Amino acid sequence: MSRNNTPGSRPEQPVALVTGASGGLGQALALELDALGCRVAVHYNSAEAQARAVQDKLSNDSVVVTGDVGSWEAVTALYAEISERLGPVDVLVNNGAIRKDSLMAMQSPADWAQVIQTNLVGSFHTTRAAVPYMLRQRWGRIINVVSPSGLIATAGQTAYSASKAGLIGFTRTLAAECGRRGVTVNALSPGFMITGMTKNLSDRVIEGMEDKAPIPRFVTVEEVARSAALFLDQDCMTGQVISIDSGVSIT
Ligand SMILES: NC(=O)c1ccc[n+]([C@@H]2O[C@H](COP(=O)([O-])OP(=O)(O)OC[C@H]3O[C@@H](n4cnc5c(N)ncnc54)[C@H](OP(=O)(O)O)[C@@H]3O)[C@@H](O)[C@H]2O)c1
Repeated sequence: MSRNNTPGSRPEQPVALVTGASGGLGQALALELDALGCRVAVHYNSAEAQARAVQDKLSNDSVVVTGDVGSWEAVTALYAEISERLGPVDVLVNNGAIRKDSLMAMQSPADWAQVIQTNLVGSFHTTRAAVPYMLRQRWGRIINVVSPSGLIATAGQTAYSASKAGLIGFTRTLAAECGRRGVTVNALSPGFMITGMTKNLSDRVIEGMEDKAPIPRFVTVEEVARSAALFLDQDCMTGQVISIDSGVSIT
């Protein structure tokens, strides 16, 4: 290997951007990354009060930022703010996402497009803004939150499923691009968690999901967030989908 390809080392207190840190899993990831020594940029789209409440619980320096990840202009603006207040982003967690389920015959084209724009194009925007610096410093971590729905069929979820399956392909391909420069790109696939995204599902659907899993219970956001240490620590794990899903992805 040439000297130019030698990976850099992990920054002392990495700057971690968690998109959707106002939501259920994002909050837990922000707290976990803070506990691991990161300085966290707590991102929200609409729920400012929740994001500020998360920031109040952090020990290290942090910042609250906002913006629709589906907008490139909004993403470049929030990166400028993080860079000015904390420094460039070393760890990116693409967690913010939406779900607008509908059977195809009734699916609104605008809703379908918005899911792809937020979950998939949004992850491209935040990653595009982060990667040049990570490659230059020869160290970086990109964690894309996906879902068993990216691989398993659930009627009514073509948009959500396509967005998450797309993000898995994105993860693997970007991992191949960035590995030589010490930047790992992995996907985190949680099982069913009770959060803002799932709280409106009917009891019948929720019980069905719980019964389907080999470990017949939901995962908690804290259990999923504990994987952050693995993503930070492992220099040789890239292009992987790490499933913490009660085994639902093998059903
Ligand atoms: N819950 C589950 O069972 C489950 C299972 C598998 C995977 N996941 C994945 O886990 C991740 C976190 O979801 P969650 O369950 O914690 O849901 P959640 O509580 O609804 O959180 C979703 C987050 O996404 C943010 N968001 C929404 N639209 C956005 C936009 N246009 N730009 C930027 N951020 C936006 C929200 O921000 P505001 O609230 O500030 O608007 C919120 O913080 C998602 O990627 C989801 O697909 C969830």
